[in-house]
Amino acid sequence: MKKHSNTWSGRFNEPVSELVQRYTASVNFDKRLAEFDIQGSLAHAQMLASVGIISEADRVDIEQGLSTILQEIRNNNFEWKIELEDVHLNIEKRLTTLIGDAGKKLHTARSRNDQVATDIRLYLRAAIDEINHLTQAMQLALLNLAEIHVETIMPGFTHLQVAQPISFGHHLMAYYEMLSRDRERLTDCRKRVNRLPLGAAALAGTGYPIDRMLVAQILNFDHVCANSLDAVSDRDFAIEFCACAALMMVHLSRLSEEIIIWMNPLFGFIQLADRFCTGSSIMPQKKNPDVPELVRGKTGRVNGHLIALLTLMKSQPLAYNKDNQEDKEPLFDAVDTLTDTLRIYSEMIPGITVNHEAMRSAAMRGYATATDLADYLVNKGIPFRDAHEIVAQAVRFAESKSCDLSKLTLAQLQQFTPLIEEDIFSVLTLEGSIKNRNHVGGTAPDQVRQAIAQARRDLT
Ligand code: ARG
Repeated sequence: MKKHSNTWSGRFNEPVSELVQRYTASVNFDKRLAEFDIQGSLAHAQMLASVGIISEADRVDIEQGLSTILQEIRNNNFEWKIELEDVHLNIEKRLTTLIGDAGKKLHTARSRNDQVATDIRLYLRAAIDEINHLTQAMQLALLNLAEIHVETIMPGFTHLQVAQPISFGHHLMAYYEMLSRDRERLTDCRKRVNRLPLGAAALAGTGYPIDRMLVAQILNFDHVCANSLDAVSDRDFAIEFCACAALMMVHLSRLSEEIIIWMNPLFGFIQLADRFCTGSSIMPQKKNPDVPELVRGKTGRVNGHLIALLTLMKSQPLAYNKDNQEDKEPLFDAVDTLTDTLRIYSEMIPGITVNHEAMRSAAMRGYATATDLADYLVNKGIPFRDAHEIVAQAVRFAESKSCDLSKLTLAQLQQFTPLIEEDIFSVLTLEGSIKNRNHVGGTAPDQVRQAIAQARRDLT
C-alpha cells in the first residue's frame, strides 16, 4: 500500500484533496495555541515518565525537543505546514524530526481531543487573568477621573431627557460598578475553565495507568474534568466566557454611546484628547469620536461570537466532533476585541476634559430641580401627588417666562402655594439638590467621595 504523509495515512488509499486540506486545516488560526500546547505536552510527558509509561531518557529528550520548538516559534522560524492540519500535529511532527522515537511516544495515552480541550482552557485561563488585570486598570482610570469631578454637576437623564442634577463623578462611578460585576463574573467563569480534560483521551479514557491529578497539579488546574465524554466535547466554559465578554462590551458600548453624545457640540459636555479623534476628509470643522464609535460597533461582533458558539454546540451529539474546531476563531476574536477595547479605554479616560459651564447650563435648562421643589412641599405636609401637580404648574409658568424655577420670584412661586418660603432658593440650586441626596448610593458629593474611597480600597 502506498504511504501518504498524513498522520493516519496507513488506512487511506489517497491523500485528501487540496481543497479539503484547506477546508479542514486549523493551523492558520490555532497556531496561537502553540505555547499552551507545549505546556500541556511537557506536563503530559512528565506524568508518562513518572508512572513509567515512558523512560526518563525519553522525557528528557521530549523536554529538550519541545524547548527547541518553543524557541523556533518565538523567533518566528518555525515552519507551519498546512498539510499537518493543526498546531498539535505540526509540533508533534517537528518533535519527531528533532528527537526521533521519543517524539513518537509523546502521544501515548492522549488524543488530540483531550489535547485541544486542554490547550483552549490554558489559553482562556491566561486570557481571563489578563482581562481581569486590564479591567482593573480601567476601573482605576474611572476612579481617578471621578475623584476630580465629585463636585462637577451635570444633568442626569431618564429617557435622554434632563431628569435631576447629578455629580459627574457619580455618573462615572456607575461604570466602575458595572466593571466590578464583570470582574466577579470572570472570576467565577475562571473556576469552570480551570479544570483538566487530559486523560479523557479520545472520549472514553485510556488503558494506560495515567495520573491525571499529577498533570492537573503541574498545570495548576483546580480539578480534573470528572467525565471523559464531557471533557472532550463540551465548550460551555468558552460560551460562558463569551457571555461575560459580550456583557462587558455592552457596558463599554453604553459608555461609548454617552461619550459620543457628550462630545456632540450641541451638548459640548466633554472633549476627548485629539489623539483619540479623527477629522473629516471633507468637513474641516469635524472632530469625530471614532474610537467610542468603534467600541460600539465591535460590541456587535462579540455578541455575534456568543451566538456563534451557542449555535456551534446546540446539535452536537457526544462526544468530540470536528465542529468544535470552529470554537477558536470566535473565542480568539472575543478575547482580542475585549482586551484591545479595555486597553484603549484605560488610555482614553485620563484624557477626558470637561466643560463645566456646558454641563451646568444643561442641568439648569431642563428644570432638573423640580423634584426638589416637590420634596420641599412634601416636607411642608403636602401629599406627594399634590406636590407633583403644584410643581408641574410652576414649571409650566417658568417655561412661559423662559426661565428656571430658581429665577422665579418668591411672590411668583407663592402663587402656586403659600407654603413656599424664602428658604426655597437654596433647595432649587443644583448644589442644594445633589447635596440633599445623601445616603448610600446617592449623588451627594460626600457619598461619592466615600464610594470612591471604598472602591480604592477594593481595587488594591
Ligand atoms: N484541530 C482540532 C480541533 O481544533 C483538534 C482535534 C482534532 N481531533 C480529531 N479527532 N480530528 O478541534
